[in-house]
Amino acid sequence: MNRPNKVVVTFGTFDVFHIGHLNILKRAAAYGDQLYVGVSSDRLNMEKKGRAPIYAEPERLAIVQHMKPVTDVFVEDSLDLKAQYLRDHNADVLVMGNDWEGKFDHLKDICEVVYLPRTEGISTTETIYKIKKYE
Ligand code: CTP
Repeated sequence: MNRPNKVVVTFGTFDVFHIGHLNILKRAAAYGDQLYVGVSSDRLNMEKKGRAPIYAEPERLAIVQHMKPVTDVFVEDSLDLKAQYLRDHNADVLVMGNDWEGKFDHLKDICEVVYLPRTEGISTTETIYKIKKYE
């Protein structure tokens, strides 16, 4: 029997990997059979967040790649190439955290677009802040 192979794609920096990251990968994977994750390049992170990530690009890629829900990773080097990345992976579903609510609705002609609620009480920025204050 031919099993439908539904492809899910999601994106993020995944710096200082935390439980919110794991949760979104697990929930994204539940939308299909394969999950591809576009991990922001160091360059794109500088552009998006105005700072270099704590963990360098190859390390962030390796960490995400080896998470159980993830089929494979690729480097996301431009926010403007989302449509291209989705086509390259034959995406059926784009999953984004709801910090991006509505921002990718124009991609609905390529695939389904789903925004998932963020895990409350944790972010990379807050974690870095906490570590800095720790004595
Ligand atoms: N995410 C989530 N819940 C959180 C934090 C992140 O669901 N508490 C999701 C984001 O919505 C995104 C993915 O994880 O889809 C990657 O987010 P990223 O920006 O790398 O992590 P943040 O912790 O939000 O990083 P920062 O504080 O630097 O913005």
